[in-house]
Amino acid sequence: MTTHDHWQQILGSDPSGNSWVQERPGLSLEMIAACGLGKDAGILDMGGGASTLVDFLLADGFSNITVADISETSLELAQKRLGELAKPVQWIVADACNWQPPHKFDLWHDRAVFHFLTEDSDRKAYKQRLYDFVPIGGFLIMATFAIGGPTKCSGLDIVQYDAQSLANEIGVGFVLLDSQLETHTTPGGASQNFQYIRMQRV
Ligand SMILES: C[S@@+](CC[C@H](N)C(=O)[O-])C[C@H]1O[C@@H](n2cnc3c(N)ncnc32)[C@H](O)[C@@H]1O
Repeated sequence: MTTHDHWQQILGSDPSGNSWVQERPGLSLEMIAACGLGKDAGILDMGGGASTLVDFLLADGFSNITVADISETSLELAQKRLGELAKPVQWIVADACNWQPPHKFDLWHDRAVFHFLTEDSDRKAYKQRLYDFVPIGGFLIMATFAIGGPTKCSGLDIVQYDAQSLANEIGVGFVLLDSQLETHTTPGGASQNFQYIRMQRV
């Protein structure tokens, strides 16, 4: 099964019970606030899917938001939830390792997507877009399963990181500003440890 078909199937059944679902992506919002961006800053949620991050960003007054995901179903779920509010958002069906971003982003956010890239060639392809489409001074917020956290997500292998190994993986074009561990409680009541990092392009 292709990556696209896998995610279409996962998100097509009952997405509200998916392990990664958060009512309010609090730590992402806290780290985004720490970037001190203007309300017209270009913000990308890579693999944002049906996440509510976009809802909170719109409510905060951000006006230049892009949500990209390999699954069109996940984006449709978010659009349906938002109704009219979805209109100013740019929704892009894209594979993070093989897409052409439409413009540069002042902030690139990724929660629980990069960790699926178990092949070096896929990580390289993802990072090339990060380097090309986050300008100097721009930010990256990334969250992956932490060391000691789950070893799989939705049946797929993942790579676990701590703050330093994730920052090292991203590479020298970005500096680590801060990092936090979060214990996420899944809709089913299980605990999952996530590692968040905030980096800036230099
Ligand atoms: C674990 S979910 C996380 C969703 C969201 N970021 C959140 O925190 O709620 C992973 C998401 O990444 C998307 N995804 C997986 N592989 C992808 C890829 N190669 N390119 C773009 N999106 C991808 C899936 O469709 C799904 O929406």
